[in-house]
Amino acid sequence: MADDLYAVVGNPISHSKSPRIHSLFATQTGEPVEYIAIQAPLDDFAGTVGAFFDRGGKGLNVTVPFKEQAWALAGRRTERAENAGAANTLYRDENGTLVADNTDGVGLVRDLTVNQGVTLNGRRILVLGAGGAVRGVLGPLLAEAPATLVIANRTVARAEALVALFAPNAGATRMSACGFAEAAGPFDVIINGTSASLQGDLPPLPANVIGSGSVSYDMMYALGTTTVFNRWAGEQGAARTLDGLGMLVEQAAEAFRVWRGVRPETGPVMDTLRRD
Ligand code: ATR
Repeated sequence: MADDLYAVVGNPISHSKSPRIHSLFATQTGEPVEYIAIQAPLDDFAGTVGAFFDRGGKGLNVTVPFKEQAWALAGRRTERAENAGAANTLYRDENGTLVADNTDGVGLVRDLTVNQGVTLNGRRILVLGAGGAVRGVLGPLLAEAPATLVIANRTVARAEALVALFAPNAGATRMSACGFAEAAGPFDVIINGTSASLQGDLPPLPANVIGSGSVSYDMMYALGTTTVFNRWAGEQGAARTLDGLGMLVEQAAEAFRVWRGVRPETGPVMDTLRRD
């Protein structure tokens, strides 16, 4: 029998590491999974998704720029997808309903807490950015019950809107919004969720957001080198600088678990990707 078919959909898609990651998961777990990359036309994401499932496809990962469309297209959404306002994982349930899930936030939190041993509970967290990437991770970050979560963004109004949106999830965490220059450190964990590094830019933060015990985490990753943001954080004296490769592998592992009911081991896959 043919393997079950999965894919990642985006535009562009040729750079995607997801086929490599999921094929390593399939080999490791022995699950009969074939995983391909599909470039959807910018104006026909819905048609691409429909055609994939109609030909028997079992599940999709969704990446830039279609995560919000994936969320909107679904007939049902998990709570974490609902909170995120975006979906990176799609499948059809037993009734044929398209279900949207989002595994990005748990991927980030799992990489930080399990792989890297970073405590978030009771800590001071600074999140940079207020776009879709940040919205996708706020629910799982708040679930760790940090003492403080500050969202700093170039456009402060977007950070304020996220604080208002997630107020019901905040529990005892003090949440606030500010511009980059107003971020008052030091913070225990500083997470860069802006797309600034794509342009080689650095959010203009005061140096004192970084203390000698700070951990910086760039949701971007750069194989074989250090991201601009992490280089800056290291220069300011951060204790550790981490990039988003672990988050990428963890969000994939959680999607694999959602689809297959089996959680792959991520450590060996990260090692392989760093060696590739
Ligand atoms: P994504 O899905 O990657 O989050 P997005 O919704 O367009 O994409 O959000 C991009 C984020 O990066 C925003 O927080 C954006 O700041 P604004 O809300 O002010 O636009 C931030 N960003 C993009 N380029 C940046 C730059 N050069 N410097 C600082 N922040 C930047």
